[in-house]
Amino acid sequence: MNTEGNIQPHSKVKLTILQRYIPTLIDIISFRSKWTKIKVLDVFCGKGFSSNGEEGSAIRLFDCLLGKASVHQKNFELILNDIDQNNTSSVRNHIEEKFKGSTVKNLTVSYVNSDAQTLLEQEIKNSKDPLEFKFLFYDPFNYKSTKKSLFSSFLETGRSEVLIFIPFSNIYRFLKAVREKTWNDEHGLVSYLKENLGEKHEIFQREVTENEFLKALEDAYSVNNFRSTSLFIQEKQNRYALIFLTKSPKGQEVFLEACYKDLKEDEFKANRIYSISDNVLTLKVVDGDQGQRDLFGQSQVSQLDDDLGLTEKLFQEMKGKTVTNSDLYEFILSKKILPKHVKNLLYSMKENNKLIIKDSAGVVDSKKKPGLYLAFNPDKKVMYEFYGN
Ligand SMILES: C[S@@+](CC[C@H](N)C(=O)[O-])C[C@H]1O[C@@H](n2cnc3c(N)ncnc32)[C@H](O)[C@@H]1O
Repeated sequence: MNTEGNIQPHSKVKLTILQRYIPTLIDIISFRSKWTKIKVLDVFCGKGFSSNGEEGSAIRLFDCLLGKASVHQKNFELILNDIDQNNTSSVRNHIEEKFKGSTVKNLTVSYVNSDAQTLLEQEIKNSKDPLEFKFLFYDPFNYKSTKKSLFSSFLETGRSEVLIFIPFSNIYRFLKAVREKTWNDEHGLVSYLKENLGEKHEIFQREVTENEFLKALEDAYSVNNFRSTSLFIQEKQNRYALIFLTKSPKGQEVFLEACYKDLKEDEFKANRIYSISDNVLTLKVVDGDQGQRDLFGQSQVSQLDDDLGLTEKLFQEMKGKTVTNSDLYEFILSKKILPKHVKNLLYSMKENNKLIIKDSAGVVDSKKKPGLYLAFNPDKKVMYEFYGN
């Protein structure tokens, strides 16, 4: 929100991605009998709505959980925390007013007024239920508490995922001062960088681009076996980052799907509303009518000038390699795109003899369609051999 309490376009994009992701996540988790409980934590939940009438994360999450709790036989818990009691009271009133009479027994909501970090430390300590799936939305005003040790401890408690919002430009702007040592450890930024990247990281030695810095953060947050997916939301000159952590490749795909909505390859190419360069995905948000397509309500995502990168360039590093369907699937996700975005590209590579597909016995299968097995399915081994000049 800005100083007038209005929700800003980049926030709306962030919340839209969250609101698209959570229902699909719940469907996936619910279809697996293993999990008996799904817990969602919004630890900086705010007051629920903005001065310009937009709903914040707390209301949107409640709405998603209420919808899913009425169709899935699981227990759901939503923890809405904000250090300011006025905010949680406002959220509670808003929820009671808006969803009057539509409560369900298998959804409980807790309103908490703790410091977010303390709440998570308790959560980590008390987390004993192996049948509980947890999702954490971490949306602070600043970066100071977004230290990776907190997330790694949370993620290690069991099957869990985290979505972190980082006011990226606020950090990037001051990197020079940190490098030139005009900022010392007393500034939260220095300890943030040291803890997350390590004291010897190259950002302390040389100037890094915004893309390089985001990649460094993405790598830093990807602890143990967790996969991290980051992207920029750019509003005017300011960039904000979302970093999503999961253990599951499917989770990564569904998260990217939520960022891209349901854009098919042709649409994706034609609109050029997303930019990918140096493996970094940027969604550029503009207010008003400059955007080409209204993907995120009033906030529009516009065409970026730089190269979309959805070309064979993406597959340069595959040349000369033979990979399985799972490897290729993971490679595509690591490029921040979805299998469906490159299906036609793979078809044309196959037609031009730049790609040969073999079955698990190593027999060339000229009929096999690329993309058919591009899912995380280690059993269906299809080999993709890439050639080219
Ligand atoms: C960026 S806003 C959250 C916006 C909210 N997620 C939404 O979509 O409406 C950050 C919130 O964090 C709260 N806050 C600030 N410091 C906190 C802390 N240490 N622990 C918990 N909440 C805190 C503030 O009161 C504020 O409401």
